Amino acid sequence: MRAFHLSWLSFFACFVSTFAAPPLLPIIRDNLNLTAAEIGYAGIASVTGAVVARIAMGAACDTVGPGSPPLPSS
Ligand SMILES: *[C@@H]1O[C@H](CO)[C@@H](O)[C@H](O)[C@H]1NC(C)=O
Repeated sequence: MRAFHLSWLSFFACFVSTFAAPPLLPIIRDNLNLTAAEIGYAGIASVTGAVVARIAMGAACDTVGPGSPPLPSS
C-alpha cells in the first residue's frame, strides 16, 4: 500500500510540475526578458531533461525497484 500511495503522489507531483509552467509563460517571459528563440530553447532543454531523467529513473527502478532484490539494510 505504501508503494501505491508513493506512486500516485509522485505522479501528481510530476503532473503539477509539468503543467504549472505553461500558464505562467507570459509572466516568466516578461520578467526575464526572454525572446521567442530563448523560449524555444527552454522547451527543448525541458524535453531533453525529461528524457535523461526518465532513462536515469528507469535504471534506478531496475536497481532498487520492486522487482529487484532487497537492499542490504532492509
Ligand atoms: C528586463 O527589461 C526591463 C526593461 O528594460 C528591465 O528593467 C529589467 O531589469 C530586465 N530584466 C532582466 C532580468 O534583465
